[in-house]
Amino acid sequence: MPTKPQGPKGYPYIGSLPKLASANRVNWLQSVADEYGSVSQFNLLKRNVYLVNHPDLVQEILTRGNKNYSKKTVGFKMVKVVLGESTFTAMGDEWRRKRLSVQPYFHRKKIANLATIMTECIEKMLDQWETLCDIEKTLQTTDAMMQVTLNVVVKALFSTALSEEDIQTVADAFNPLLEATNQRVVLPFPLLFNLPTHKNKQYPKLIAKLDAIIYRIIAQRKVSDEKPMDLLQMLMDATDEETGLPLSDEDLRNEAMTMFIAGHETTANAMSWLWTIVSQRPDIRENIEHEVDTVLAGRTPISADFANLTYCQKVFKETMRLYPPVPILPRHVENDDILGGYSLNGGSDVLFSAYLLHRHPDFWDQPEIFNPHRFDTDAEKQQHPYAYIPFGGGPRMCLGNNFAMMEAVFIIAMTTQRFRLNLAPNANIKPLISLTTRPKYGVPVILQRRSQKA
Ligand code: HEM
Repeated sequence: MPTKPQGPKGYPYIGSLPKLASANRVNWLQSVADEYGSVSQFNLLKRNVYLVNHPDLVQEILTRGNKNYSKKTVGFKMVKVVLGESTFTAMGDEWRRKRLSVQPYFHRKKIANLATIMTECIEKMLDQWETLCDIEKTLQTTDAMMQVTLNVVVKALFSTALSEEDIQTVADAFNPLLEATNQRVVLPFPLLFNLPTHKNKQYPKLIAKLDAIIYRIIAQRKVSDEKPMDLLQMLMDATDEETGLPLSDEDLRNEAMTMFIAGHETTANAMSWLWTIVSQRPDIRENIEHEVDTVLAGRTPISADFANLTYCQKVFKETMRLYPPVPILPRHVENDDILGGYSLNGGSDVLFSAYLLHRHPDFWDQPEIFNPHRFDTDAEKQQHPYAYIPFGGGPRMCLGNNFAMMEAVFIIAMTTQRFRLNLAPNANIKPLISLTTRPKYGVPVILQRRSQKA
């Protein structure tokens, strides 16, 4: 007989909403999992929610059961207001068609073509840092990482089509848009967002600002003879698997907006954590410096160097283990199911958390300790594949994982060639875990120029 999942009763009517909406949400989820096991249950208002905290079961949800565990949650509905119907938000056959037309362009070999775009953006950032270094001014790493990852994704999408002014408009619209979207997903009460507040009125205007730029570039590209090697061109050359037709302007807009949003803050947050850790661990910093100096010998990396920067890759992976950029993933249970001997009711929502799984003591030895050797080839092979899910898993796994890995490794390598980042004495490092995992008060650092030892 399947077991009915148990869990905290919560408050009358609102259930556990204050717990899940609080800044302490992952600690609360951890306490629920600790008390009630691999599958637990709680209520959010009238909604029935399950928490699943075992890699076997998460694997089942994301692979075998992925049709029954859909993205039809209120949170995804909120994200759809910004992204429209895209590879990230679509479901069923529509998603499959979109994914098949876009996926080939995210293959590792295709991403290699974007290496120069990445290194140029990173170099520009580092050149700006030189002046800061001279005057020993504090650098806010979180802002710098947001800026460089936005520049990379904008250039990767549109090459040189965006003027400096456009990029500034995108950057200005982006932060308030991301912040408001985060709030809408974490507190998904559509009625609240229909109230005529200033913030609510601004929301569609921010989206419209970005739309205007994206649609203008699509229109210009259509009449241009030039075909730059960027993601927009790749998307414009892609065809619908069934109809053989190219993507419509709206499809192109939705995919471009998805890449803006999905492909920028995630990497930036992980990089901010990485610098926080590296600045406090001289042993890790020394290993990175040794690898970078040996592999690159002072040159700018090219795509072929990525495979040889193995320690940098491991440090980035281990950072995402402790601080997964997407800490909680939701799904909707379409029909009644039995999962790991537990009965789940159709119509409920289910949550699982990379943050919890990445620190699960049954799968990670001393989970709180930062140790890149967990990702040595042999150790990685022995690990349960769903105990580590920074990019999700199954058919809906992140499309941009190769992109993000290459970008992160190049940022680590090129920064290390020129600088050491030392935490500023006033740094107050606290995680804020909502839709993303980021340092709440940023990561202020003092830059120190490096003289390279080859
Ligand atoms: C460190 C950086 C990144 C992390 C941690 C990350 C994480 C994730 C996760 C966890 C998912 C699965 C969501 C779910 O199943 O509900 C996802 C999906 C996705 N990501 Fe990423 N992502 C990153 C970078 C990127 C980049 C750079 C791009 C594109 C340029 C991108 C594009 C997408 C898309 C299109 C999907 C939807 C895939 C689908 O549903 O078929 N991501 N990402």
